[in-house]
Parts: sequence; C-alpha cells; structure tokens
Amino acid sequence: MPVKPTLIAPSILSADFTNLRASIELAEKAGADWIHCDVMDGAFVPNITFGPFIVQAIAKCTSSMVIDTHLMIADPDRFIEDFIKAGSHQITVHQEACPHLHRTVQFIKSLGAKAGVSINPATPLSVLESILPDLDLVLLMSVNPGFGGQKFIPSSVGKIARLDAMRKELNPGLVIAVDGGVTEENAAELSAAGADALIAGTAFFKAADPAAAARKIKGLA
Ligand code: DX5
Ligand code: ZN
Repeated sequence: MPVKPTLIAPSILSADFTNLRASIELAEKAGADWIHCDVMDGAFVPNITFGPFIVQAIAKCTSSMVIDTHLMIADPDRFIEDFIKAGSHQITVHQEACPHLHRTVQFIKSLGAKAGVSINPATPLSVLESILPDLDLVLLMSVNPGFGGQKFIPSSVGKIARLDAMRKELNPGLVIAVDGGVTEENAAELSAAGADALIAGTAFFKAADPAAAARKIKGLA
C-alpha cells in the first residue's frame, strides 16, 4: 500500500462524448486528480481524436482537476501554445516525435505549463537520461499508443521500477505516470513499482461504479 494515494487521471478518450460535461463531472466527483486528454493526429499514431477546441471545452467543465494533455502527434511544437491557451496545465510530448526534445521541453515550460515526456513500450529509458533533470513528468506507455481499451504490457512494471531508480539520482521530484491498460487489479503493483499517477480510460469510464474504481486505483479501497 503506497504511503500517499496514487493520483488518478481518467482518460477522456473513454468518456461519453455525447455528454462531455457529465463525464467530466463524474470524474471530478469520483475524486480524480487530473483529466487526461489524448490528442492523436493519424500520423504519429494510427487514430485521430481531437484538438485544442475540445481541450478548451473540457477545461471549462472543471476547476479542480489538472488538465493533463498527452500529445500523440508529429512535430508537436506547432500546437503546444494552442493547447496551453486552451487550458492545459501539463503538456506531454513523445520522445519519438521530437528531434529537438530539449528545445520542446523548454518551450512548454516557458509558456507556464508543466512539461512531460512519454515513451512508447519499445523505447528504452536510456533516451530520457539527459532530459530527465528538466522534466516535471514522464508518461510511460504501457500499451502502444493509439487506442483505449488495450491490454497492459507486463514488462512495463520493470520499466517503472527502473525509472524510479533513475529519478532518485537525476530528479527526485519527477512524477511518474503510467498510461494504458491500467485496471483495478494491476494498480497496486504499478504504484508499488514507483508510479505516482495512473491514467485510466476503460477502467474508470466503463466501470459499473466509476467512483469505487477510482478509489481502488488510488489505493484507498
Ligand atoms: C492510448 C492513450 C491512453 C488510453 C488509455 O493511446 O494514450 O491514454 O486512452 O486507455 P485505457 O485505460 O483504456 O487503456
Ligand atoms: Zn494517454
């Protein structure tokens, strides 16, 4: 059992888009810490979702949750400012999509948002070594990005633990978030390995009782 509750970030991807406000209020009432906005461009990942306009609508529906924007897009620098103006408090880009990652991270921070970097399951942690001291968060993908509802890739647990060891040396304040296939069943193991925040799409929005699911994922039940 973790000492402090794990943060939960419901992924809006699995919400009812015919009633976005109700979905966001559901997350808020369930005690969600962040709301995770999955932005996909049909180029970096094989799916298309939404842009700053929808993030702005989401941000208008909550005052308590952190707007956590996950950019699964090629050349994200083009749109970072738009997503921050739309209300994102944290912007996560993919290492695989950023040839000048240090510049991109500094750009996010210069606009007043927290900066995160995500890596795909096949990308080694070693690519983060030089940038780690500059980051607010790392989003470890535990599925291949592009779709909600996929199965958790088991080798991600060891990756969380290795990143936890890396941050002790390079950036103790770093937040480790895990994204993809998080469930009520695996949440405790992920927290114990070092995850501070768990992204949950299906496990939250498709649960019979989302508030109960959130408590379990946070390690409170
Ligand atoms: C995948 C997205 C995830 C996904 C999580 O590309 O980044 O945030 O929506 O959904 P679940 O929790 O259903 O795996
Ligand atoms: Zn995501």
